[in-house]
Amino acid sequence: MTTRTLPDLFTWLEDARRTGVVHYDERQRAWLVLGHPEVTAVLGDPQRFSSDLGDLLPRQDDLELFRRGNFVQLDPPRHDTLRRLVSRAFTPRVVAGLAPRITTVTGELLDEVADAGRFDLIDDLAYPLPVIVIAELLGIPAADRTVFRRWADALFERPQAGPDEPLARMMDDDAVRTIAPVLREMNEYLLRHVRARRAAPGDDLTSGLVHAEADGERLDDEEIIGFVGLLLLAGHITTTATLGNTVATLDRHPDAAARLRADPGLLPDAIEEVLRLRTPFPRLARRATTDTTVGGMTVPAGDVVVAWLAAANRDPRVFADPARFDIGRSPNPHLTFGHGIHFCIGAPLARLEARIAMELLLRRYRTITVDTGAAVFRNPWVMLAPTKLPVAVTPA
Ligand code: HEM
Repeated sequence: MTTRTLPDLFTWLEDARRTGVVHYDERQRAWLVLGHPEVTAVLGDPQRFSSDLGDLLPRQDDLELFRRGNFVQLDPPRHDTLRRLVSRAFTPRVVAGLAPRITTVTGELLDEVADAGRFDLIDDLAYPLPVIVIAELLGIPAADRTVFRRWADALFERPQAGPDEPLARMMDDDAVRTIAPVLREMNEYLLRHVRARRAAPGDDLTSGLVHAEADGERLDDEEIIGFVGLLLLAGHITTTATLGNTVATLDRHPDAAARLRADPGLLPDAIEEVLRLRTPFPRLARRATTDTTVGGMTVPAGDVVVAWLAAANRDPRVFADPARFDIGRSPNPHLTFGHGIHFCIGAPLARLEARIAMELLLRRYRTITVDTGAAVFRNPWVMLAPTKLPVAVTPA
């Protein structure tokens, strides 16, 4: 039987940890890495643990096209060259300049549902807010966001993901056939966008990439597709997840919600604690490039290694009473944004969006009550995220 609920996933991870913080799972045909220091070691060593799992994927043109500039799946030196092209746009200082726009968009989205008394936290705020912000940065029409949502839903649905899914081959032919039309639509959409920016550059990141040089060469249009696609998708779904997870968690912890209303200065730490306990990307895959050891186990070259962020974030050696939601937890060295050279480039933006949105929600509404019976969550083996979160609110 496969388990697909969040409590089942955490129980499964606890059982797996008892087998060993690093061990080989026969059904998944992969090494599971479940401890905080061990996950840190894997993510911190791209020489031994590669992010390029391309040859474990079926050969498919649309998939390959999308992967070319998608630097989260590339190793150094190309990864570092491509990441450098955009890293300056995402530093905490530059991102802080977006605060007024984020506040305006949040306010406008909440105005639209102001009279309703109830709305869907995901459809009406947590989805549109980050997608509008990242689309504006990339110079892509935010009005097309229903299309982006369809792509993200298709790519992150994966109902088959679970404890029985073999990871030795990352995706089977059927799975690729299912997502191929979405990938094609996405590639064609982004290619049109890149060509338009090449013809008439604007003041956005895509225009910057069209003219940027990497290793003395211009990026070609196809390389920019994966680059922009990565930023567009990574730039919103996880933040959507985090806003949804924060509202859902506070609904279950009214005492914490009351403390945050009284002192919004506590919000950044509370959001970090939600990020720790509700890790949007629960696991990251790597591949051993050489015979190596991790956590005292010998991993042969070529094997898939799964770094379980969601398990590392509950490692009792690092976090006291790890399952407890503690908005004052300090230090809180969670691994939700990864570690090492692929550490999330958008972390400052995600944190800012979450803080501003939560501040406004708590200021506008005296109570926010989740209709838990009507809430819908993704398969947590793929992503810890609500996709529907109806709430009833009373104005402050
Ligand atoms: C990388 C999580 C928001 C863009 C990553 C990684 C994680 C992550 C775990 C590392 C992947 C790996 O090592 O294989 C999250 C979470 C977010 C979030 C939990 C929200 C709460 C964002 C945002 C952006 C973004 C807002 C938009 C700019 C990226 C990019 C990478 C990345 C481009 C690849 C970095 C690289 O390979 O060097 N993210 N992310 N993320 N994230 Fe985020």
